[in-house]
Amino acid sequence: MARRKIQIGLAGLGNVGMGVYANLSKNAALLSQRCQADLDITRIAVRDASKARNRAVPADLLTESWQDLIDDDAIDVVVELIGGVDQAKTLVTAALRRKKVVVTGNKALLAEHGQEIFSLAQEMEVPVYFEAAVAGGIPIIKAVQESLVGNAIRMISGIINGTCNYILTKMREEGWSYQEALKEAQALGYAEADPTLDVNGWDAGHKAVLLASLASGRWVAADQIHVEGVEDIRLGDLRFVETLGYAVKLLAVIRCADDEPMEVRVQPCLVPKSHLLASVNGVFNAVMVEGDLVGETLFYGSGAGQDPTSSSVIADIVDAAVGLQHEEKRGYVPSSELAAVKPIADTISQYYLRLHVDNRPGVLAHIAQITARHDIGIMSVIQPESTGETADLVLMLDHAPFGSVQQALAEIRELESTSDDMTLLRMESFEESP
Ligand code: HSE
Repeated sequence: MARRKIQIGLAGLGNVGMGVYANLSKNAALLSQRCQADLDITRIAVRDASKARNRAVPADLLTESWQDLIDDDAIDVVVELIGGVDQAKTLVTAALRRKKVVVTGNKALLAEHGQEIFSLAQEMEVPVYFEAAVAGGIPIIKAVQESLVGNAIRMISGIINGTCNYILTKMREEGWSYQEALKEAQALGYAEADPTLDVNGWDAGHKAVLLASLASGRWVAADQIHVEGVEDIRLGDLRFVETLGYAVKLLAVIRCADDEPMEVRVQPCLVPKSHLLASVNGVFNAVMVEGDLVGETLFYGSGAGQDPTSSSVIADIVDAAVGLQHEEKRGYVPSSELAAVKPIADTISQYYLRLHVDNRPGVLAHIAQITARHDIGIMSVIQPESTGETADLVLMLDHAPFGSVQQALAEIRELESTSDDMTLLRMESFEESP
């Protein structure tokens, strides 16, 4: 029997797009056998067809108009890898309206417009697959959508931006500056086209929105979550927390408790060195998912890069191919209702607070008066020995709402004895309720 040919329109031939193109061809035989169909890239939409590429692509495949992918009735699956939000949204919605299956790795698009895109997909009765949108090569979307679907998800915590994890690792291990590490992450193809989204935490924020929505079963609005990045992390802090038995990791934390708004945040946090996530280094990501039935699970792998990310995109293409030949196979998606998200000010944890203060009697007492007024306990105070006029002062603060700590910090900043050079980091407990 002749095999069916699944015709694919690929939009975008950047780092990941090129990986998909190359690896579909590299593993063509095994893929054809596994999905009982030939996966054929029929058309590739690019911004500039004349651009020199490090792998030859037949010129007749290329078009500078993504509309050609939509207008070609033979194309069954549109793979969106152009990134950005507006144009990607137009492309994806146009593909769905023409009843083409969509595969996308675009977390920003789904975090901002997922509700609308999935309602349209439902209306048109075609699936949208998005494994590559979260944690590169780690199959975390299908794990939550399918394999763990029988669980009430209690908590998801993880390292879900490869670029930031690479930067923090290289700063700490090699003493590289932040800029050097970022430049190398870009050269290695880990960073987004606009790396601001990586370092300001929003790439991880968009991924957290998707995971939180799958965890709760309702869409989480991106503007309801709290996001911080790694731009202000100092090498001195990385080194200092290490002596205290911690590593700094950019963590996404999602907590779902019964009858309470969800906690959804991305922040650099102190992770005890004894915790598994503390040893996830370089471009690697790891996501811990805790379900009421399964307990704790851990997913680990490359969070960015051409081949690992193409692995996820190709898995989605195979799902699309299987679905096109047999009855649709698709994981569940959140309902169109919005989930309630807890204000960041109400979230509770312990904290590391490093201040740079005048080295004279009474300074610590003033600071302690402020923390006491805000009902924040001090677990320990460390002042690396200093005979100079100023000194670093580290306070480990006991469980307190983030809002109280921010208010206290605003007052501490006003003290004459305190400079603006300060770092506040959460200490993550990884408990269902901190
Ligand atoms: N820029 C992203 C990262 C790519 O560094 O994790 C994978 O989404």
